[in-house]
Amino acid sequence: MYVCLHCPLPMAGYSTERLILCPYTEADLDDLMILWNDPLVRPLVVDDDIALRGQKLKDALHSSMERAAFGVIIRLKTTGEFMGQMMVTVDPETYEGVFGICLSPKFWNNGYGTEATRYMVDYSFRWFDLQRMTLSVWASNTRARAVYKKIGFKIEGRRRGSVRRSNRWEYIIRMGILYEEWAAMNSLRHRYS
Ligand SMILES: CC(C)(COP(=O)(O)OP(=O)(O)OC[C@H]1O[C@@H](n2cnc3c(N)ncnc32)[C@H](O)[C@@H]1OP(=O)(O)O)[C@@H](O)C(=O)NCCC(=O)NCCS
Repeated sequence: MYVCLHCPLPMAGYSTERLILCPYTEADLDDLMILWNDPLVRPLVVDDDIALRGQKLKDALHSSMERAAFGVIIRLKTTGEFMGQMMVTVDPETYEGVFGICLSPKFWNNGYGTEATRYMVDYSFRWFDLQRMTLSVWASNTRARAVYKKIGFKIEGRRRGSVRRSNRWEYIIRMGILYEEWAAMNSLRHRYS
């Protein structure tokens, strides 16, 4: 556990080499709204046609972070600056975790997304008794796809004509990684042997 001096509440967070992962609180909503309304971020995370705005977007962000088994705000360890968010939602019936991440553009391409995702996947497999982790990514989001592939996610399916961007329909890629695969790559105990 890492005691975060930058959180509005004196609560413990988690940390990686360069990042602090703070439990989400409602006080983070303004930063999340700025992030999701950023013109570079928005086209990667919201559909043209069903895009939520204003209070509806705020409510959706709040409820998704509250619903998550592990929903964190990512901050830079050296300064405490807000960098973005990350979450895992768990379905206890299927033992499946669903992963999501969003970083502010000023932090892209420095390895932070890889560092944060790796931590979250590892934490979730260790503590939530998951059999698999999945995620969805839009086909054109090549940066995110590169990160997920590097970490070990495999493509499990393509959902055609799923998201509308700039007047064109695009497909969504579903990616997943199994506990056994993660365990083999990261020296975790094999559960069923
Ligand atoms: C996706 C995201 C989390 C990645 O985080 P990041 O810190 O930018 O990623 P990293 O720096 O760790 O890694 C980026 C990788 O993509 C590669 N990359 C960068 N731009 C790329 C591009 N246009 N096409 C293909 N690969 C690209 C980099 O070379 C790097 O791979 P490498 O380490 O093997 O060289 C972050 O960019 C983000 O939050 N984007 C906006 C929201 C989003 O897309 N969320 C995911 C929705 S599914």
